[in-house]
Amino acid sequence: MPAAVILGGHWGDEGKGKVIDLLAERCAYNVRYSGGSNAGHTVVNEHGTFAFHQVPCGIFHPGVIPMLAAGVVVDPEALLAELAELECRGARPERFYVSERAHLVLPYHRLLDGYLEAQRNELRLGTTGKGIGPAYSDKAARDGLRVGDMLDPVRFVQLVRRRTEIANQYITAVYGGEPMDVDALVRQCAEWATLIAPMVCDVEREIRAALCRGQLVVLEGAQGALLDIDAGSYPFVTSSSSGVAGACASLGIPVGEVGPIVVALHAYMTRVGEGPFPTELEGEAGQYLLRVGNEFGATTGRPRRCGWFDAVASRYSLDVNGATSLAVTKLDVLDHLGHVRICVAYEIDGKRVRYLPSRADVLARALPVFEDMPGWKQSTHDARRWEELPSAAQAYIRRIEELMGAPVSIVSVGPARDQTLVLRDPLAVP
Ligand code: IMP
Repeated sequence: MPAAVILGGHWGDEGKGKVIDLLAERCAYNVRYSGGSNAGHTVVNEHGTFAFHQVPCGIFHPGVIPMLAAGVVVDPEALLAELAELECRGARPERFYVSERAHLVLPYHRLLDGYLEAQRNELRLGTTGKGIGPAYSDKAARDGLRVGDMLDPVRFVQLVRRRTEIANQYITAVYGGEPMDVDALVRQCAEWATLIAPMVCDVEREIRAALCRGQLVVLEGAQGALLDIDAGSYPFVTSSSSGVAGACASLGIPVGEVGPIVVALHAYMTRVGEGPFPTELEGEAGQYLLRVGNEFGATTGRPRRCGWFDAVASRYSLDVNGATSLAVTKLDVLDHLGHVRICVAYEIDGKRVRYLPSRADVLARALPVFEDMPGWKQSTHDARRWEELPSAAQAYIRRIEELMGAPVSIVSVGPARDQTLVLRDPLAVP
């Protein structure tokens, strides 16, 4: 049985949490494959409203084994706090596993994230401040500490001591900051290691075995394809491979083992942090989407920038990742608009183009070319079947399908689980 990948096709916050929660119900394993505590996957269920940061969204389903794979950067402090909070609120999975290959985000990474952002001045990226860039930098530089290192406590504390001393050199000499208390951090890390050790295993081997047994594995992306370190609008990206290739690399599975690929797309666009955004709406129109869509970052609380659906950027995501189907989320946010717009091309320096430029400085000059469609001016909140959607909303979805070259399997018309139209089985093996 091939693995299913569910990822966001925009700049994150596409409503993947709800889609993953819906689909994870049917799987044996739900594995996060990239990012860290910078993510905020929102799920609304009978226990309340949750913003998952590191824990996979399927944790509430009995029988689903949640896991974090090698490509994730694990913040032990934040992970333990998240698990404790989830337990208080009713999620008590029998098992929860973290890959021994996953890298650690330690407090000095968070500190360095802040210093690096401050140093960038007007070129800042608007990071979440969760230490993601410095942790992935250490990984690429071969200076990172891995979750598996926690299994040998004596060696682990030596490594933490050494790395914290080096981080302190940067903090004091380069940034003029206060050094971290090395002894206190070493003690803290030893405590975290004791608590995390029982969760550590060779996740990737376990998943390859599960696939051989024919079990359903749902691989959960974080951030969005347009924030991918290679494919995204660099440098306004995150530091991980958020696309489907990242799932294969993180899990150590061959590309041919991936079957269904469900790409979640907002019915409009949002972006949090800096970076070019050709269809961004300024003023009241942007505020309207922000307000009605409740577009505030689940991790940082920052208001998200909002704009019309960008078919050029979205199609690029699909070209890079492939998609067996699409989940179009938050359609209801557009319910009461007189008209809706889709960007079908860009004008860049007087030339009309239908591709996403690789350079962020060029993308920043792109002017959107819009196609207008009538709005439906009625609520879709109670629609549960295709026939119950207003015809203008149907036309909007069909136009997105046409421009994306992929069928829509899910339409979301509200935050609750049942506010969902399933048009075809998203997990059907192609
Ligand atoms: P970092 O991942 O914290 O380093 O942030 C890099 C960029 O990615 C910033 O623009 C963030 O706002 C953005 N970003 C990171 N994680 C998410 C997410 O989960 N949703 C939306 N944007 C994100």
